[in-house]
Amino acid sequence: MSDLVQRTRDVLPSVRRDLEDLVRVESVWADPARRGEVQRSAAAVAQLLADAGFGEVQIVSEGGAPAVIARHPAPPGAPTVLLYAHHDVQPEGDRAQWDSAPFEPTERDGRLYGRGTADDKAGIAIHLAAFRAHGGDPPVGVTVFVEGEEESGSPSLPRLLAAHREALACDVIVLADSDNWSTEVPSLTVSLRGLADCTVEVATLDHGLHSGLWGGVVPDALSVLVRMLASLHDDDGNVAVAGLHEAAAAGLDYPPERVRQETGLLEGVSEIGSGSVPQRLWAKPAITVIGIDATPVDKSSNTLIPRARAKVSMRVAPGGDAAEHLAALTRHLEQHAPWGAQVTVTPGDLGQPYAVDASGPVYDAARAAFRQAWGAEPVDTGIGGSIPFIAEFAAAFPSAKILVTGVEDPATQAHSVNESLHLGVLERAAVSEALLLARLREHSSDGQIAT
Ligand code: BES
Ligand code: MN
Ligand code: MN
Repeated sequence: MSDLVQRTRDVLPSVRRDLEDLVRVESVWADPARRGEVQRSAAAVAQLLADAGFGEVQIVSEGGAPAVIARHPAPPGAPTVLLYAHHDVQPEGDRAQWDSAPFEPTERDGRLYGRGTADDKAGIAIHLAAFRAHGGDPPVGVTVFVEGEEESGSPSLPRLLAAHREALACDVIVLADSDNWSTEVPSLTVSLRGLADCTVEVATLDHGLHSGLWGGVVPDALSVLVRMLASLHDDDGNVAVAGLHEAAAAGLDYPPERVRQETGLLEGVSEIGSGSVPQRLWAKPAITVIGIDATPVDKSSNTLIPRARAKVSMRVAPGGDAAEHLAALTRHLEQHAPWGAQVTVTPGDLGQPYAVDASGPVYDAARAAFRQAWGAEPVDTGIGGSIPFIAEFAAAFPSAKILVTGVEDPATQAHSVNESLHLGVLERAAVSEALLLARLREHSSDGQIAT
């Protein structure tokens, strides 16, 4: 085992270089102009896996982004482990707010900065590291599945799962796309929220009007929209939409100073909602307005705005149904339109929440591997974010055991500017996964493992 730790450390410099090359590819699937980059990224991932010794590597797509499937068959009697990551990344946002170029990986203070360094190209990196640490011949079957549209809600995933069912069948799946409790303490993510979003459009007039001539007599669409959006929360910041699901989160301590420090909450601004931080983050629904289209301030004039729209994003607590939640949100918006304004709600993405059964021999093996690699006991946490793939996968392969790990930490700033990967976490996560593959060998593939 300790040899394996050393071998993982030995392969890390090469893995780090490969990760940096992947980060240089601007694989933003959500940007139609960069779909070629997503193809390049899939090709690069496929090449790395082939060079690492996977006998069978294919790039597949079902009308959506290219995904990569690589397979190393299981030795007789050994289980097959599916290693998941995604090679698409979020848009970089405002480049001027980055301290170094978003697609040029840059090390500062033990962290590697760049879009996708953590979410989720680091997931690909640790899969490569674990496989290389085993000399390309691990004692279990290993299938790597790297999808290319996770950040867009994985719309073609059900078709991919159906078309490649046999290639993706496994006893255990390890999804390296989540967070850690800290840079020194690993997490096993045991619950994720789902997601449901929509666009709400408001119309009050068939054309703009002089705001002095008609202001005070007929409503402008933006004032209407703002009132509707304000109705989504009560005065304490709790979600005010009726009929949403609430679960129960683990009683972990999450002090207010930690929230302030991890979020950059400004002086004088308070938290919102009631209940403990884990309860609000992992077990309650949340609603956020993530975009508005109306006249920008620079172009504003004294005109009553005839139409305006907003994108509203909702997180769904484990146990809730994303489609039912979207229906409740839609009803709420339609019923809270003042002054008879015309409202059109267009449904967006849906992703189901998921709660994992974190017990049994596979979890015992994972905890032992984490303990050894990190020198710390892993913490079972929820996350407020979503990985829609998990519920889809669990439905397609109900007997596979699901492990949600990750290479992020509280300072990662995924989706924001200055995203970064902690290089110590990269090493510990890679060692954990290499050790996990070795430990899973001890389980046979004949059902024992899937319990
Ligand atoms: N890696 C994240 C999920 C995540 C978020 C893990 C926070 C740990 C902490 C994933 O890439 C992600 O961003 N998912 C999207 C899914 C959506 C587009 C359906 C999300 O949560 O917004
Ligand atoms: Mn991710
Ligand atoms: Mn993400």
